[in-house]
Amino acid sequence: MEINDVAAVRFLQSRVAPPSPAMSTTRLVPQRFGPVARFLHWATLGLITLQLLLGNVLEAVPEGALRGLAYDSHETIGLCVLLLVLARLAWRLTHPQPPVPGPAWQRRVALCTHATLYVLMLAIPVLGYTMVDAKGYDVAFFGWSGVDWLPTNDALADSLKVLHAAFGWALIALVALHAGAALWHHFVARDDVLRRMLPGRASIRA
Ligand code: HEM
Ligand code: HEM
Repeated sequence: MEINDVAAVRFLQSRVAPPSPAMSTTRLVPQRFGPVARFLHWATLGLITLQLLLGNVLEAVPEGALRGLAYDSHETIGLCVLLLVLARLAWRLTHPQPPVPGPAWQRRVALCTHATLYVLMLAIPVLGYTMVDAKGYDVAFFGWSGVDWLPTNDALADSLKVLHAAFGWALIALVALHAGAALWHHFVARDDVLRRMLPGRASIRA
């Protein structure tokens, strides 16, 4: 690096806002997830939990207005999850994330788990939408009908229904693993992995 470059770097460093407690003092790498990422993470958890419960009771709701409302709510909330996850991915790709701690194999497992969670969170609502569409029904979204893309095809709708349910079970299994890992970090390894994703001002030790 030449002297002019060093001077330029020092000048730029002096213009950067002083690091907040959430930022490393040596590099601008955050040590915890920011409020937007934390909000999106826990909001998705809340809505997906609701969806898994609602999805499994839909068929048991007696015929009538209540059943219609249950299906419409499941479809509307599911599409909200899709939008939320797209927003979350956009945020994630444009903002620095705290590095995943631990040995290389643990980092690889965490990254694969997170990537698969994102794939499932996107695939499940898309499968739900195409299932309803292929069945020949209007997709409900806050009282509007979704766009009708597919011709009615019962065989396709049945396959999509099986996939929608199977991916739902895969999501439950992976979330159990993911939440178990977070609790292991907190109670056994006693590090900051869970704390840095918790809402509010939970203090981190790093
Ligand atoms: C994150 C979002 C979603 C989750 C976690 C989810 C989960 C589930 C689950 C677990 C079931 C029960 C599956 C079974 O055992 O058969 C279900 C059923 C269903 N889902 Fe979803 N779903 C989501 C989004 C959507 C969307 C966006 C739509 C449509 C626009 C949709 C439409 C349906 C319908 C129509 C059923 C009932 C299928 C039937 O019994 O005929 N879902 N969902
Ligand atoms: C529907 C349920 C859940 C889904 C879909 C989900 C998904 C995700 C994803 C995709 C990430 C990666 C964030 C990123 O780097 O962009 C993440 C991070 C995280 N999640 Fe979850 N999560 C769920 C539930 C939970 C629960 C119940 C806990 C705690 C008990 C938890 C704790 C964490 C923690 C601590 C991180 C940060 C990990 C790190 O620092 O690398 N999550 N979650």
